[in-house]
Amino acid sequence: MTQARFITLEGSEGVGKTTNLEYIKTLLSAQGIDFIVTREPGGTALGEQLRELLLGHKHDGMADETELLMMFAARAEHLDKVIKPALANGQWVLCDRFTDATYAYQGGGRGIDFERIRILEDYVQGDCRPDLTLLLDAPIEIGRERANQRSAPDRFEKEQTDFFNKVREAYLSRAKSDPQRMKIINAALDLDAVKSQISDQIKLFFSHSDS
Ligand code: TMP
Repeated sequence: MTQARFITLEGSEGVGKTTNLEYIKTLLSAQGIDFIVTREPGGTALGEQLRELLLGHKHDGMADETELLMMFAARAEHLDKVIKPALANGQWVLCDRFTDATYAYQGGGRGIDFERIRILEDYVQGDCRPDLTLLLDAPIEIGRERANQRSAPDRFEKEQTDFFNKVREAYLSRAKSDPQRMKIINAALDLDAVKSQISDQIKLFFSHSDS
């Protein structure tokens, strides 16, 4: 059996993460892969509580560093209780957002030095990194229009266009600097076209994973 793999899905608001996560699940199931699905921030009891604090409005105006450290606190718990045990047990992990989101939102959006994030990444994760990351990318206006049709905006969704442009830029620059792992999916196209790009990337990934 092939070694268990760690796959993450990324993108800014309204790019269709939820729908496409479901689609990726069908692709993995079709291959008979044993996998778990999880998310960040969250994925554990403690992580979900941190998520509430991070996304809710009770602590509007929290310091950027507090936000950064809470993301990594949730991640430390997630790695210890869910991600690493699953991978060690031969189960693939499909995670809705991971550390690329920290580089994009806290680094790009909030302006925290990427080097600081890298230090925390090394500290919290050791050598644990995703094997494949699919980045759903669309111009900010398209994503925000879709996101605005949903319920009351959370603490991140309330940010302005400039913030999301920086988030997008940081995501794209990470994808360009690590093209082996991080694949850009054009999420501005219609759903069938988006699914077909995802399916191509997953097939390619399977073909490399077999060896
Ligand atoms: P979502 O996953 O439901 O879209 O919402 C999670 C929000 O948290 C989203 O706005 C991105 C943000 N986030 C960060 O700012 N940094 C992180 O490291 C992660 C995982 C998420």
